Amino acid sequence: MLKVNKNYANLKESYLFAGIAKRVNEYSASNPDADIIRMGIGDVTLPLCDAVIDGLHSAVDEMSKAESFKGYGPEQGYGFLQDSIKAYYKKNGVELDTTEIFVSDGAKSDVGNILDIFDKENLVLVPDPVYPVYVDTNTMDGREIKYMNANEDNKFVPDPDESIDADIIYICSPNNPTGAAYDYEGLKKWVDYANARGAVILYDAAYEAFITEENVPRSIFEIEGARTCAIEFCSLSKTAGFTGTRCGYTVIPHELEREGMSLNKMWLRRQTTKFNGTSYIVQKGASCVFSEEGQKQIQENIEYYRENAKIIMETLDRLGIFYTGGKNSPYIWLKCPNDMKSWDFFDLLLEKANVVGTPGEGFGENGEGFFRLTSFSNHENTKEAMARLEKLISEM
Ligand code: MLT
Repeated sequence: MLKVNKNYANLKESYLFAGIAKRVNEYSASNPDADIIRMGIGDVTLPLCDAVIDGLHSAVDEMSKAESFKGYGPEQGYGFLQDSIKAYYKKNGVELDTTEIFVSDGAKSDVGNILDIFDKENLVLVPDPVYPVYVDTNTMDGREIKYMNANEDNKFVPDPDESIDADIIYICSPNNPTGAAYDYEGLKKWVDYANARGAVILYDAAYEAFITEENVPRSIFEIEGARTCAIEFCSLSKTAGFTGTRCGYTVIPHELEREGMSLNKMWLRRQTTKFNGTSYIVQKGASCVFSEEGQKQIQENIEYYRENAKIIMETLDRLGIFYTGGKNSPYIWLKCPNDMKSWDFFDLLLEKANVVGTPGEGFGENGEGFFRLTSFSNHENTKEAMARLEKLISEM
């Protein structure tokens, strides 16, 4: 008789953001006049920049002519894009070999799929609160998961706990959902911890483009020793507005070996078997993100979102509410007023202010009592949402 993967029964009924969207849609259907401002899921609102659009158009034209048409591309990505990524890392002082860079359709797929190369018996360590994909994908495989406490006391950047012998460690910095980021010293502790145990760090750098502080690394490979213990995932989703266009990349150094096997070679074998590459058109557009013009234009967009983060932070400062993030991240993670539970605050904010955020509890137990707002809206809506939030909280 056919057997299903029973681990799926251990998952929450729906993926966090799908559940929230359903709740908001129901509210909107029964309150059709409500002017809802969405600051929940981290989805961008500014269009792709001109440099990228030009790249996409010219790639579409190439596809229309026999002499420039492209069929299957190289599985690891086109050389022109790998070279651009390599040069981008070099600017931050990180030397990579082209064959260490794998282009994909986004970090979420790679973060989930990478588990194919690891045994199910590994002990997984994730921070709490955490981006639910890390937990759900391991739950699907039936791996044991332990949590590291991220909380107000450690400003949501926990140090390694020597008593836990983790095999696979997830670190997202700047962090989703808390927006908090490790500095060089903090990240070095994790690299040393992983190397000492032969563990592997799965490092999510999806928000690196939002870093403003000098003491915060943009890549784990800026840390000495990381090449023997880390895999880095990055994405153009938040960096360049690719949430709907889809392009990301994963870096696996050649030095990273476990049980005599190269993780780079294993991932190549996995990708060539199960993935036929990111579309040529998208890769052409993605390479324009790294051109001089593209970098200038995406910086303008990131600056726009930073302005929103500032509006949110200033509002919370005025209200005297504790928060992390905003400085190096598009996320602001705030403590719910009056010790409210996160889902109660979610409902209150939705019903009384028509503003949507993400309840911290959705990211784990330690998220209870916290709430996430994104800076990806437009200025007008961000200002309006913060005016509504300020009024609501000051009248509580
Ligand atoms: C989020 O809101 O946490 C992000 O949009 C999730 C993602 O990047 O998949």
